[in-house]
Amino acid sequence: MPPVEVKENVFWVGAIDWNIRDFHGYSTYKGSTYNSFLVMDDKITLFDTVKNYLKSDLLHNIRKIVDPAKIDYIVVNHVEMDHTGCLSDVVDLVKPEKIICPAMGKKNLLDHFHKEDWPYEVVKSGQKMSLGKKTVQFLETRMLHWPDNMFSYLQEDKLLISSDAFGQHWATSERFDDEVDFGELMQHAAKYYANILLLYSPLVQKLLKTVKDSGLEIDMVAPDHGLIWRKNIDSIIDAYDRWSRYEAKKKAIVVYDTMWHSTEMMGKAIADGLVSEAISTNIMDLKVTHRSDVVTEALDSKALIFGSSTLNNGILPKMADVLTYLKGLKPGNKIGAAFGSYGWSGEGVKIINGYLEQMKVELVDPGLRVKFIPDHDNLKKCVELGQRIGKAIKEKL
Ligand code: FEO
Repeated sequence: MPPVEVKENVFWVGAIDWNIRDFHGYSTYKGSTYNSFLVMDDKITLFDTVKNYLKSDLLHNIRKIVDPAKIDYIVVNHVEMDHTGCLSDVVDLVKPEKIICPAMGKKNLLDHFHKEDWPYEVVKSGQKMSLGKKTVQFLETRMLHWPDNMFSYLQEDKLLISSDAFGQHWATSERFDDEVDFGELMQHAAKYYANILLLYSPLVQKLLKTVKDSGLEIDMVAPDHGLIWRKNIDSIIDAYDRWSRYEAKKKAIVVYDTMWHSTEMMGKAIADGLVSEAISTNIMDLKVTHRSDVVTEALDSKALIFGSSTLNNGILPKMADVLTYLKGLKPGNKIGAAFGSYGWSGEGVKIINGYLEQMKVELVDPGLRVKFIPDHDNLKKCVELGQRIGKAIKEKL
């Protein structure tokens, strides 16, 4: 994709990753983007680079504007390899006067690339730097997403380059939020938040307060992934506020894996009970549902209900996968329950309960087990469990 001038003399020069389908465990079914920004000023400055295999896309875009050798500064807002994969090659080509990053950025750059002789310029939160006509102010945003993250704010342009925050994994030919379908955009933003930032929600709350208290005037937010926000800034800020406060809806997910469809029958009956209480319910069979889509639907669901057949004194592998992944993301403010069919030992429900307890999910029920194939009475108990969970959702919202 060609460069786009997002503000006067500020150019998007990043790369579109149309073909990526797995981003360390996250299903990027519509690809991703790695945004880099080139500021043409007295000090020509490049903010972030891209993945190693997209280096030529980045350099091709830069060359349409300026000879890369004329770049003076490279700002590293984040060391993760999706933004630094080609940094070593770019530094060799550009020979920058400064590589600007926070202290944790320098440490992590050294641990990644082992280049003691790079011209690091360590900056602190609140520090300003003149590029000529433009001034950049840095704001450290530790753990959003790594200890080395920071924002760069272009004061005169009121442009916040926000690194991983407010991003979406979505490959598009459009660059701005008002050029795409808003509902689809917010769905990608929610999936990104749920799978990348949910774990750091308490820090997101602090960050939103810091940005508000700083009084920065912002009329464009340019994340390092996906669309740039210029029309719907309030919408994405409000969404981050809701998501990081774990605000939930009258909504539940029933997630299962099943050997011979008995656990599936139970899950559907539980869902019937939820629906009879007017709870919006997603039934998610792990044979056809990716872990990252489960987490996305979990984001604003009040109840998480998981079911697995017992297999070899354990749970089915896809259930272990999704519970391990979700536990790491630390969802907050949830209620839930476990269910499953078994033949003789029947440990599945107990194991799922263990995961739910570790996630601090409040258990509505000790768990529902059925031996082999559920009969009508068993399914009635499943419906009643769904109804009890439905009532509990309404009580707690
Ligand atoms: Fe887009 Fe944490 O990297």
